[in-house]
Amino acid sequence: MKVSRPGTERIACGKVTKELVGSQIVLKGWVHRRRDHGGVIFIDLRDRSGLVQVVFNPDNPTVFAEAERLRSEYVISVSGTVELRPEGAVNPNLTTGEVEVHVADLQVLNTAQTPPFAIADYREVDEAVRLKYRYLDLRRPELQSKIIFRHRLVKAVRDYLDGQGFVEIETPFLTRSTPEGARDYLVPSRVHPGSFYALPQSPQLFKQLLMVAGFERYFQIVKCFRDEDLRADRQPEFTQIDIEMSFVEPQDVQDLAEGMLSYAHECVFGTPLDIPFPRLTYAEAMERFGSDRPDLRFGLELIDFTELVADSGFKVFSSVAQSGGKVKGINAKGCASFSRREIDSLTEYVAQFGAKGLAWIVVGENEVKSPIAKFFSEEQLNRLLKAAEAAPGDLLLFVADEPATVAAALGNLRLELARRTGLITDETPDKYVWITDFPMFEYSEEEQKYVAIHHPFTSPRDEDLPKVSENPADVKAKAYDLVLNGTELGGGSIRIHRRPVQEQIFAALGLSQDEVADKFGFLLEALSFGAPPHGGIAFGLDRLVMLWSKSESIRDVIAFPKTQSAMDLMSKAPAPVTPQQLKELSLEITVDD
Ligand code: AMO
Ligand code: AMP
Repeated sequence: MKVSRPGTERIACGKVTKELVGSQIVLKGWVHRRRDHGGVIFIDLRDRSGLVQVVFNPDNPTVFAEAERLRSEYVISVSGTVELRPEGAVNPNLTTGEVEVHVADLQVLNTAQTPPFAIADYREVDEAVRLKYRYLDLRRPELQSKIIFRHRLVKAVRDYLDGQGFVEIETPFLTRSTPEGARDYLVPSRVHPGSFYALPQSPQLFKQLLMVAGFERYFQIVKCFRDEDLRADRQPEFTQIDIEMSFVEPQDVQDLAEGMLSYAHECVFGTPLDIPFPRLTYAEAMERFGSDRPDLRFGLELIDFTELVADSGFKVFSSVAQSGGKVKGINAKGCASFSRREIDSLTEYVAQFGAKGLAWIVVGENEVKSPIAKFFSEEQLNRLLKAAEAAPGDLLLFVADEPATVAAALGNLRLELARRTGLITDETPDKYVWITDFPMFEYSEEEQKYVAIHHPFTSPRDEDLPKVSENPADVKAKAYDLVLNGTELGGGSIRIHRRPVQEQIFAALGLSQDEVADKFGFLLEALSFGAPPHGGIAFGLDRLVMLWSKSESIRDVIAFPKTQSAMDLMSKAPAPVTPQQLKELSLEITVDD
């Protein structure tokens, strides 16, 4: 650190160790804790680097009198001598625990009101209060360390990508909307009354245009904006590690992504990741886990009983099985002790996902207990138990419905069972998995048309091109997601680089030629000027930091996050603007809040 005065050097609080015993040093920081002991005042002084104990003795009466006025969170500068702590006073939990600084001089740089929550003793505090006083929340070492962790991770990612020949290029925030599936945040134009910019949901089109421009390897650590319903792992503005590469196949992008994550993991934790990550096709993930972002930290896989129950006497099952639906279930190992109430609450739980019921079989030593057992012959029941690999003590749970409802209900039930039975602990190893071979389209009941599952710039598999118009549901995309512990960490694809193919996809999505020309004319034009084959991926940086730092909420890894209702409680954004501002933008507000 810099020399502040000859002979006195500012040392970071957390760096004051035995080697400095006898030196005169200067410390600057916040009063973390204050203790008065038999006429001596002890202060734990805190700065970003940590804590150190400073001692005020009454034999220096002026300084001592000043020290008596110190309160928590005062900002002070002290100079003094580093000394060994007396035996018995050593604190092994602190890097500075063997020493203390005996103060010769004290300067109060600023006073502080009593903070609304203690900085020194970490306690759960109402999140609304934490967010209102975010600068105080961020003073707490627990949160500060997460933000610093994020910095180190970002630095590692930048270093890795730079080393691999990637160029970081900024792209505009005031832009036209790109269809990533969420609602846009709009910015009214003053100069063009009635026209709006959209804040980018991602730099998707710009990064493709950078490939057309010949940069070959682009990345950006970039804010994206999406007006969508928020959850614990979603923010309205979030950060992507956004990557695009020319002349690549899916495997190249995946190799690069694995290399990057492993390098970053090694930088922040000291150990690389076990790469390559395993792969599951979308179809297999849906079949076995009922989700395209399966949590592979535990089993409880879905079992298909459709064929076995098709001719059973239980009408619910047989009619679903015979009409193209699915009857699937989970063997909740060892859960036979669940009470009726617990099973009822699981039934309510799956109802949220559209399940009309939750049939169950409790497997005992020599018998089963179940409201549906009576509908099965002994042989049918035995076949069912065998298919479930059931053993005494198990609880089998079944849902019969349309395949999508079965997947949603059982996929979520799987997670709920894991939560209720404590299958995942902090020690459970992380599980990464690539999900590949996504369908290109899905039918949206709401919009009554096909929509792109990834985005409309994703390339279909070459062999599926002829199916795009006749049979869109059968078309697979060159798209891939990376999932970590059941959270989608990143997603990407190989893009369409030929104009006619892009036009064909737009048509399949029901866009008229006029709409295409208006919204994506510039893209089609660019594709017709020698666009190279290209593809890429984007990772949710906030999610990555959240999972790696074992944080419960994405808000804990963002310095100034928004609430679930997209508010900034500190600055109170969003907020009304003045009539003058509205007038300049040619806007009129027609609803009162
Ligand atoms: P996608 O929409 O899958 O892909 O986004 C990539 C990753 O961004 C993260 N993410 C979010 N994180 C926090 N809050 C949100 N609201 C949020 N939304 C998304 C997720 C997700 O995996 N342009 C494409 C990428 C590409 O094709 O290269 C895209 O944006 O971790
Ligand atoms: P019921 O015949 O409606 O009394 O249902 C008998 C059992 O089957 C109850 O445990 C229901 O929860 C269950 N059940 C009803 N409909 C379904 C369904 N679609 N899938 C799975 N279980 C169901």
